[in-house]
Amino acid sequence: MKHNAVLNVDVEKGKINKNIYGHFAEHLGRCIYEGIWVGEDSPIPNTKGIRNDVLEALKNINVPVLRWPGGCFADEYHWKDGVGPRESRKRMVNTHWGGVVENNHFGTHEFMLLCELLECEPYICGNVGSGTVQEMSEWVEYMTFKGESPMANWRRENGRDEAWSLKYFGVGNENWGCGGNMRPEYYSDLYRRYQTYVRNYDGNNIYKIAGGANIDDYNWTEVLMRESARFMDGLSLHYYTIPGDFWLGKGSATGFPEDEWFITMKKALHIDELISKHSTIMDKYDPEKRIGMIIDEWGTWFDVEQGTNPGFLYQQNTIRDALVAGVHFHIFHDHSDRVQMTNIAQTVNVLQAMILTEGEKMILTPTYHVFEMYKVHQDATKLALDAKVDSYEYNGEKIPQVSLSASKNNEGTTHVSLCNLDHKNDASVDLDIRGLNTSEVTITGRILTASTIDAHNTFENPENIKPEAFNGFTLDGDTLSISLPPMAVVVLAIK
Ligand code: AHR
Repeated sequence: MKHNAVLNVDVEKGKINKNIYGHFAEHLGRCIYEGIWVGEDSPIPNTKGIRNDVLEALKNINVPVLRWPGGCFADEYHWKDGVGPRESRKRMVNTHWGGVVENNHFGTHEFMLLCELLECEPYICGNVGSGTVQEMSEWVEYMTFKGESPMANWRRENGRDEAWSLKYFGVGNENWGCGGNMRPEYYSDLYRRYQTYVRNYDGNNIYKIAGGANIDDYNWTEVLMRESARFMDGLSLHYYTIPGDFWLGKGSATGFPEDEWFITMKKALHIDELISKHSTIMDKYDPEKRIGMIIDEWGTWFDVEQGTNPGFLYQQNTIRDALVAGVHFHIFHDHSDRVQMTNIAQTVNVLQAMILTEGEKMILTPTYHVFEMYKVHQDATKLALDAKVDSYEYNGEKIPQVSLSASKNNEGTTHVSLCNLDHKNDASVDLDIRGLNTSEVTITGRILTASTIDAHNTFENPENIKPEAFNGFTLDGDTLSISLPPMAVVVLAIK
């Protein structure tokens, strides 16, 4: 199918906040333990307990911000159990995720170390569901107070003299569900109360994020904005792409039927409508768009891999996940005036992961490769791109066949990313480039694609899918004609 688009390189549409490319790591299954934390005595090479291979891989995608410790785990987490000598830390049950023992070896100090090593911003989610105001308040004091205070002194006793800088703090998670089954009116009042004691110490300015709606619960957003907007900097939203039914069967990550490819693409695109409708409510109370929409959980959610603990949410990751990531980013770019941060669920071994590990082995997923290819958009200026896109039809249903987005970085390089969502047909895009002397440009490209709908990397074949050089384009005057094979993510650099 043929599509047309006009790219105005000299028409800027605001900045794409790099935090749109954020991540989320929960104490869930093998995300933190095994996936990130192996302990200092592990034979797996590590830096103070954090595995080096995962660290290096994550550095390579410029993780801007990392959310921790949950998720549902956050509202059962008592941070004091996770500081002090590791041997004497409390062993608790991770009731939410598999009922396994949580030895608290990865706590505040270890998380902050991880963020320092990744050079990313920490985003900590506090416990409203089962924690006290005092506990939350003291956590912030422990981390950020520079002078003498009970919590700052305790931090020093535990080996950290300097206060950490902490910008992002979430006041609870999914408080409509695992975070306390609250009604929005009740949570809104609790939010106001808890956040009062999340203090800004010594010039550390906290960006406070209120627990937001699930999917299309517009009433939650309405109540939170109406009652508590002036006390928040961000309001979250959670949306997972699930081809099937959450309770009856979500669908398999691999070996899925053809129609589930289409359904997955359609459901991924649905985030656009959700963002628009929640934004409209936010606009009513915050027309200046001071408050950020923080989509701190998104991604695919499939049935767990056979033979794995159902509470560990371990799933494979295919070219389909790569397309889901690509279209999400384009939609996030389009809403970058309101969407200030997003965090894919989750970093390692859980849901739509960047990385899978097995003992000392590690593989990078197709989703990882999209994050790596798209890192050029981080903090870049979004460019005006008007596209006339034809449909991809399946069983009488239609969605756009291609999705595209463009940005310009500080060096003046323009990047255009394109996704062909169609699992069977090529797509041709004629891009009319304006505002640039095209006779003087050099264009290079990279592509991530596959020949089967569930192509993925395995520990035996870790490089089955990886980005390759792409030269499926021609420039004739100001028209760049691009040929995309089915199921492809492409990034072009125009210098
Ligand atoms: O990411 C997995 C879980 O999904 C999180 O813990 C929870 O917030 C959401 O329901």
